[in-house]
Amino acid sequence: MAAASSEKGPVELCKGINGLDKVVLREVRGSSAEVYFYGAHLTSWKNEHGEEMLFVSSKAIFKPPKAIRGGIPICFPQFSNLGPLEQHGFARNRVWTADKDPPPVPPNSRAFIDLILKPSEDDLKIWSHRFGGCTLITFWLTFIFSALSFSDLVFSSYEFRLRVTLGPAGDLMLTSRIRNTNTDGKPFTFTFAYHTYLSVSDICEVRVEGLETLDYLDNLQNRERFTEQGDAITFEGEVDKIYLSTPTKIAILDHEKKRTFVIRKDGLPDAVVWNPWDKKAKAMADFGDDEYKHMLCVEAAAVEKAITLKPGEEWRGRQELSVVPSSYCSGQLDPQKVLHGS
Ligand code: BG6
Repeated sequence: MAAASSEKGPVELCKGINGLDKVVLREVRGSSAEVYFYGAHLTSWKNEHGEEMLFVSSKAIFKPPKAIRGGIPICFPQFSNLGPLEQHGFARNRVWTADKDPPPVPPNSRAFIDLILKPSEDDLKIWSHRFGGCTLITFWLTFIFSALSFSDLVFSSYEFRLRVTLGPAGDLMLTSRIRNTNTDGKPFTFTFAYHTYLSVSDICEVRVEGLETLDYLDNLQNRERFTEQGDAITFEGEVDKIYLSTPTKIAILDHEKKRTFVIRKDGLPDAVVWNPWDKKAKAMADFGDDEYKHMLCVEAAAVEKAITLKPGEEWRGRQELSVVPSSYCSGQLDPQKVLHGS
């Protein structure tokens, strides 16, 4: 962690909602970000004009064990309910700590925080693997065989290091490093997502570029595989898709706000796109009935092929978010420039 102080420096440790500990990162030009130790959860990312880029529900419950609704929850060691664990795994509802042994810090970094999560005794009991499978099928087989023979369970010990950095231009970088620390020689397997809730003016005015023509698994149709047709993706109803093997850059164009989010990712081949729309919004206690109009989740993820780590091995997955002004409504923006430019 960089220098922490009670003054408004680049890294401020303070209390958030319900007295939960959080860190506020600030850059000189005025951008900021907030990270809760609960879940290592990003709950705010503001540009230099103080405008919020992330969506957090007005009904979000900042109280363990419920994960905070909005911002950037971390889905680990399991994305969704595709496996034996609770939906989206347990990292998002554990209390993380400051990492006292962080990876080397690049020169000139000021506004960043290093957090770490290690398994508790209870986590070791619930996350167990007999095989180091590499697909969703083997993930499930692991569960079934484990359930049949609990005496043979192999527990998965890990260190999960997360660095959150706010760059000088207000870009937000999240880097996860997950290491297998098993001492019994056994590999373990996990799936992962940065479940990023972007704040948008009106979901009907949003386009996503970079996922067209790709294959996806449709969560609304038993995860059947389809190929995206047509041009950019727009929204007229509920969507819950896992796009497979996507490019490393995805652009989300907000027509009304005239701004474009750019997601760059590394080590995370898939991308999940989710909006619950009206019916599911009403069914969620921690989400306002109309809030679906003002959010879109685009999540850098590793879902289709689970990641397997042998003891001593480390995996790295990175998501970088930036915002560029756009004038798409006047037809001036060339999405290819956003996607393929530096
Ligand atoms: C998305 C999933 O990532 O998260 C959806 O694709 C899920 O299927 C959504 O409904 C929200 O999940 P949760 O557990 O935060 O309500």
